[in-house]
Amino acid sequence: MQINTVGVIGAGTMGNGIAQICASAGLKVVLVDIADAALDRAMSTIDASLDKLIRKESITDSDKQQTLGNIHTATDLQALAGADLVIEAASESEQVKLSLIRQVDEIVSAEAIIASNTSSISITRLAAASSRPQRFIGMHFFNPVPVMALVELIRGLQTDDRTHEAARAFAETVHKTAISVRNHAGFAANRILVPMINEAVFVLQEGIASAEDIDMGMRLGCSHPIGPLALADLIGLDTLLAVMDVLYTSFNDSKYRPAPLLREMVEAGYLGRKSGRGFYRYPA
Ligand code: 3HC
Repeated sequence: MQINTVGVIGAGTMGNGIAQICASAGLKVVLVDIADAALDRAMSTIDASLDKLIRKESITDSDKQQTLGNIHTATDLQALAGADLVIEAASESEQVKLSLIRQVDEIVSAEAIIASNTSSISITRLAAASSRPQRFIGMHFFNPVPVMALVELIRGLQTDDRTHEAARAFAETVHKTAISVRNHAGFAANRILVPMINEAVFVLQEGIASAEDIDMGMRLGCSHPIGPLALADLIGLDTLLAVMDVLYTSFNDSKYRPAPLLREMVEAGYLGRKSGRGFYRYPA
């Protein structure tokens, strides 16, 4: 099945990255968010990311204009009516996602595929909220989306082969490498990565080392591109806490308990780069 128009719901960190890579690959994109301000912020993030690529001579100014021209923004979900594929990338709340999926299901054609970029919520459960569970799939991108080469494809119990194949072909179109993962809390990559970051927060909380030394330890000792606490700030502490909560409740295993410091920082509004403060400070 041919995917020409992609709808993206949520203009935050992940949504704007997904919109960018689709538009760069020549697809028409409809980016939807509830607030105009969020859409404006998303478009300036995309603009800045494309400028980085121009500076690296990966793309030309005309490629940039073409990419921007492929993105249409809207605050009304009805704008998704013509989409062949809708990728939900709203905040990591099951209630929010279920409500959006139910609404989108009524707007797009019966043939359209609905995907969720959830980092941890059951794809089977999300699929069941739509009238087309066989055409529902998890497409989990990584941050920053324009740079990270991976997408996890997560089949719900109901996802059919045709949808899985279409999602694989789509991943190729947007120049990502897909891995197929069974639907299980945290899928594959986050099940490994997020508890590692959570453990780094425990190490900080217990006063074993400073944030800088923890990060230096993992960069120089384990060749990670950035340390786990700097990565936490990049991903967003609220997202990490949501993933840990899902792992903890799904496995009912205390090894997945979120670090109290992580929860307290989220309560304080220290969400990482997006709020200007996390384990490090990010002046505006
Ligand atoms: N758009 C375009 N290019 C970008 C970019 C963006 N948004 N962000 C970074 N880049 C490019 C830079 O231009 C630079 O290119 P160059 O090496 O060719 O000059 C390159 O990426 C490196 O960027 P910087 O020099 O600015 O900074 P770093 O060397 O620290 O690299 C990074 C940035 C690529 C983010 C690197 O730190 C990294 O790989 N970090 C780990 C990221 C990671 O693990 N992501 C997964 C998170 S988990 C997740 O998303 C799942 C979710 O569900 C929780």
